[in-house]
Order: sequence, then C-alpha cells, then structure tokens
Amino acid sequence: MSLPSVNPTKTETWKALEKHFQEIKARQMQDVFEKDASRSSRFKIEWQDFYLDYSKNRITDETISLLLKLLEEVNLKEAIGKQFSGEKINETEDRAVLHTALRDFENMKPEVKATLQKMKLFSDEISNGIHKGFTGKPITDVVNIGIGGSHLGPEMVTEALKFYKNHLKTHFIANIDGDGVAEHLKTLNPETTLFIIVSKSFTTQETNANASFIRDWFLKKGSREDIQKHFVAVSANVDGAKDFGISQENIFPMKDWVGGRFSLWSSVGLSICCAIGFNNFEAMLKGAFEMDNHFKKEGFDENIPVILALISIWYNNFFKAESESVVAYSQYLNKLVPYLQQAVMESNGKSVDRNGDRIEYQTGTIVWGNVGSNSQHAYFQLLHQGTKLIPTDFIGFSESLHGNKANHNILMANFFAQTEALWEGTHNKNVENPFKYFEGNKPTNTILIKRMTPKNLGSLIAMYEHKLFVQGIIWNIYSYDQWGVELGKTIAKETLKAIGQNKPSLIKNSSTEKLLAQFLKKLQ
Ligand code: F6P
Repeated sequence: MSLPSVNPTKTETWKALEKHFQEIKARQMQDVFEKDASRSSRFKIEWQDFYLDYSKNRITDETISLLLKLLEEVNLKEAIGKQFSGEKINETEDRAVLHTALRDFENMKPEVKATLQKMKLFSDEISNGIHKGFTGKPITDVVNIGIGGSHLGPEMVTEALKFYKNHLKTHFIANIDGDGVAEHLKTLNPETTLFIIVSKSFTTQETNANASFIRDWFLKKGSREDIQKHFVAVSANVDGAKDFGISQENIFPMKDWVGGRFSLWSSVGLSICCAIGFNNFEAMLKGAFEMDNHFKKEGFDENIPVILALISIWYNNFFKAESESVVAYSQYLNKLVPYLQQAVMESNGKSVDRNGDRIEYQTGTIVWGNVGSNSQHAYFQLLHQGTKLIPTDFIGFSESLHGNKANHNILMANFFAQTEALWEGTHNKNVENPFKYFEGNKPTNTILIKRMTPKNLGSLIAMYEHKLFVQGIIWNIYSYDQWGVELGKTIAKETLKAIGQNKPSLIKNSSTEKLLAQFLKKLQ
C-alpha cells in the first residue's frame, strides 16, 4: 500500500485529544487574551506576503502540541514525500497526484515546459490580434466550455485577477441548461469568438453536448474549415478531441496525473492565460510553487496549510462542527467559495478508509460562504447568535488595487471588527436584554495578505490544496478520487433514454417514474 493507513481515532494522541477536549469544550476562551499577552504573537505565522493569525480559536498550547503529535502517528511527513515524488497515491484510480509538478520551477518536466510554451504562444497571438477569425477580424471574446474542475478554477482566477486583465472578454459556459447557453450566445459574434473546450476526459455529458450545440450555432455562419480558427481543446483524451473535429495542433494536452479540481495550473488555465497574459499566469504558478516549498520544508508548527488543517480537524472531529465558512473581504474573490467547494468536498467527502473499511468518525467538512462585507448583512446573524459552531476563515488584503483608501479602510475595519465581535461577544459585559447577548467564543482564522497579485493568489490556492490533503491523510481517506459522482451520471443516462423513448416505465424508482410521467405530460 502506497500511503500509510492509520485509523486516527485509534491512536494514543487521539485519546489524549479527547481527554483534552473534555477540559476545553465548555471553556469561555475570551479571557485568555487578557491573561496571556503573548497569545497573539505565538498563534500566528508570518510568511512572505501572508500573515495568519489563528489566536482567536478555542485552542491552547496543549491543543496544538497534541494535534502536531497526531501528525507523527498518521505519518504525514511520509505522505507528503510520496505525493511530491509522484508515487501513485491515488490508488483507487492507480494514478500519481502531481499538480505540484506543473509549477515546479526547480525541476520542471520537459512536457510541462512544452505545454506552457504552447500556451504562451497561443495566448499571445489571441490577445495581440494576430490570430484572426474566419472573416479576418481579431478575437474579442474567449469562451471556456467545461464544467467542474474544467470551469471553477479558471473562472475563479480570471475573476480574482480582473485587475490584470487585457481587453479580451472571457465567458464560462458550464451548465447544460440550454437557456443559460442561449443567453451567452446572444452576446457573442461567431466571427470574433474563440471557444476553448476544456475536458480532461472529453466524455463529460454537459461539456460534449454544449460544445456540439455551440459548434452547430457557429456553423450557421462559418464553414467546417473555419472551425480550426475558432475551436481549440484542452484534454487528456486527444482522440476524443480529434473526433469532435479539433485538429492536432489545436489540442492542448493534459496528463492523467493532474486531477480535474487541481488542474487550473495546467493547460486548463488557457482561458486565464488569454485573459491576463502568460506572464501573470506564470507569476501565479510561481506563487503556488513558493507555497509548495513552504508546505514541504517548513516545520509543521510554522506551516500555514498544516496548522489550518489541524484546527479544522479539531472543530470537525472533537467539537463536531459540521461546516466551515470562508469569507473573503475582496470582491475579486467572489468565486472562491464555489471553487473551494469542489476542491474540498469532492476530495474529502468520503466514508470508506484507505483499507476499504467503513469510517466511524466524521470526515469532509462542508465549505460555504461569500464575500465580506456582503455576508455580514446576510448570514452573519447565525454566526454570532445561532446555535451552531461555524469556524470561519477571514481573508483580507492590506492594499486596495485601485487605491480607494476610504472604502478600503471601511472594508478592513469590518474585516477586523467581525473576528473580534465573534470572539469577544458581550462576554463579561453586563447585558440584561437576552436578545442582545452575544456569547462570543466563535473561532476564526485571519489570513491577511499584502496585495491581490497573481503570485499571492497562487499561494492562497495552493494553501487550501495542501490543507485538504493534510486532512485527507489524517482521516485516512483517498482524497484524490471522486467515485461519488459516478452513480448519478449513470442514472441520468438511463433517465435520458426513458425521456427519449417517452417511457417513464423504464425507470425503477416509482417516485422518479411518476415525476417523469408528469414531466412528459407537461411537454405535450
Ligand atoms: O463529475 C465530476 C468530474 O469528474 C470532476 O472531477 C471534473 O472536474 C469534472 O467532472 C469535469 O471533468 P472533465 O474535465 O473530464 O470534463
């Protein structure tokens, strides 16, 4: 077996953590700051442009030291070595997990370099207007057709790095919903639009159907030969892309050792390259590479992704918190949460361990959230006064990119104030009205970053990638497969057959059968 397999709950440290939890669970922690002035200097990590403050958590030095000890018992060090050295740690799919190789500037594989070069040349030609459409006009719009990992990363990054964007307009067509596709097409001119079909497998129903529909739309104006000027593909399935009608030189390859939800660093990032230019894309890869080195080389007690993972385990497995929230105080990060939802929940939503046995403890956290300060006016009430414990990551930037200091100061004042309000509550204050009482003791991590740059964004994304990996190792699960998405796909194919034949009776489940009958009746 490639990765070590240890049931975390059977370790000595887990037992010690359970005992420690009994001591801490009811403790109102607010007073600790008054009693311990050095807490905020101890529970923090400064690294490059990042400052992580994790002092507003329901932890003590003992909590951290026990959690760090747990890492020895589950052999995290060995697991990290195996991932980075390309061992087939995704055992259920018999694959290595090497998205880090896509940004390994010390030891870059020749095929990675070649693909980056191809992306650079192509994206330059598109943005410089050298590549012309079928009527000789330069490209004005770039459309990414893909779903899941072939959509969420590119969209999140192009949104986050909008400030660095060129004149090209970028669009993302993911959903199979034909109304959504039609709304996009209304705004596009086939003469000046480039479509990038992104699918690692090139068998994804939504992507293939959307791509075919859009090709037909294109062919109302352009000819079959013109397709080469307007459609390119990103895929590990070169034959599939060729069968669709994309020529070899218009296919950007992907490797099977890059998982979909970790693929924005690969040729899947072509739409990012077109939108912000190759140099910015490369700077983002470098930022991720720096975080990789931090994760690999730094001691675990000073290691940002490791500490975040441990704190999350503490709440998930001991406090039994079911979810965690991520609130970025930056409009640029408005697509971060959907991206993280796939990364984290597709990876760690597992209930069978690495021995194939059913798990009897909690795994994968639910990730949700939105941007600040909007979230304050939406769901923060529940964070402050609800009955649920929701540990939250606050992400903010010291500098505003456009230099609107007045707004930025208000934004950041809210950013800091919320973590304080969540932590302190009205504890120790004489609040007589029970409706105005705030219990406080609500945990947060504050991730303060100097500036939203391509490099810092790369580091931030890699930070969350490594965090989820550490958690998967502790939970003794395979984080890099996603068998849980398959059953629904199979049933959808059978359902489509029943719809096509107008025969609800082909459906096994009586509820679905009746629903389908109703659906087909409404169609007539
Ligand atoms: O259905 C889930 C999934 O397999 C994701 O893991 C993946 O990112 C997405 O579908 C898209 O897959 P593809 O890139 O092969 O079209």
